[in-house]
Amino acid sequence: MKYSQFDLSHKYFVITGASGLLGKEHAIALLDINANLILTDINLLKLKLIKKKLSRLYIKSKILIYKMDVSKEKSISKVVKKLKAEKINLHGLINNAAIDSKILKNNKMTNTDKFENISLASWKKHFDVGLTGAMLCAKHFGKLILSNKKGGVIINVASDLSVIAPNHQIYKKGTFKPVMYSVIKHGIIGLTKYISTYWNNKKIRCNAISPGAVENGQSKNFINKLRKQIPLNRLANKNEYRGALQFLCSDASKYMTGQNVIIDGGRSVW
Ligand SMILES: NC(=O)c1ccc[n+]([C@@H]2O[C@H](COP(=O)([O-])OP(=O)(O)OC[C@H]3O[C@@H](n4cnc5c(N)ncnc54)[C@H](O)[C@@H]3O)[C@@H](O)[C@H]2O)c1
Repeated sequence: MKYSQFDLSHKYFVITGASGLLGKEHAIALLDINANLILTDINLLKLKLIKKKLSRLYIKSKILIYKMDVSKEKSISKVVKKLKAEKINLHGLINNAAIDSKILKNNKMTNTDKFENISLASWKKHFDVGLTGAMLCAKHFGKLILSNKKGGVIINVASDLSVIAPNHQIYKKGTFKPVMYSVIKHGIIGLTKYISTYWNNKKIRCNAISPGAVENGQSKNFINKLRKQIPLNRLANKNEYRGALQFLCSDASKYMTGQNVIIDGGRSVW
């Protein structure tokens, strides 16, 4: 077979928040180009179901699952220890876990907080997962990638809200995308740039991917308001980030580091 720049055969990748909507899509993206996976999340039950399903479809790839809380350094270290014991040559990390508010069918939003009412506890909780968690995973799994002579990649999952502010008018009156989300996603880009220059000579590339909103059972009212802000006039399908992830994780992007790949139907252009 002709060498494909996209092929990830024999390469292991850790995905955090792998039980969620996009975590599973990232897993499929990498399995489609022959990667081996270490899927992690706080929700072990969902991880088990995902492993069962994917193992049947991708019989040549190895899929390991671990319960791991990205906000707890000990929990991350435990997984690192297990990977070392298994002699796993880690190639990549997808920093995907975050607390992300969801718009429900009835137009209500989970984790909505008026800026004036934000509690420090809520601010810290979101940061612990979305930003500190990403840093801790980069630190620990990055060290493991460094021990791999061929180097590897770290991909940080940001959002279109890493480059634009939320338009509060699209949400139900009185509900708001919490301020933490905006600040965390801008911070993720800072983390990406930092790692890309810090490990520039160690063969670790670090890039971010910034998805726009995925259509996933939100109220019609919300979808209609949001799609008018998007040049392509629709929200994303959950599988539309797979190609970008494959590009960023493989040699197809080997001259690229420190960048933010924005895939938002053009929303941030307007
Ligand atoms: N879905 C979208 O429309 C969208 C758009 C832009 C960006 N994103 C980003 O994509 C990523 C994934 O989003 P999603 O829609 O799949 O979210 P999701 O809520 O479906 O999944 C998030 C996952 O993270 C896990 N998680 C939460 N706290 C954790 C912790 N402490 N340690 C480990 N895992 C933890 C959850 O159990 C869940 O499985 C997030 O970074 C999100 O900000 C999503």
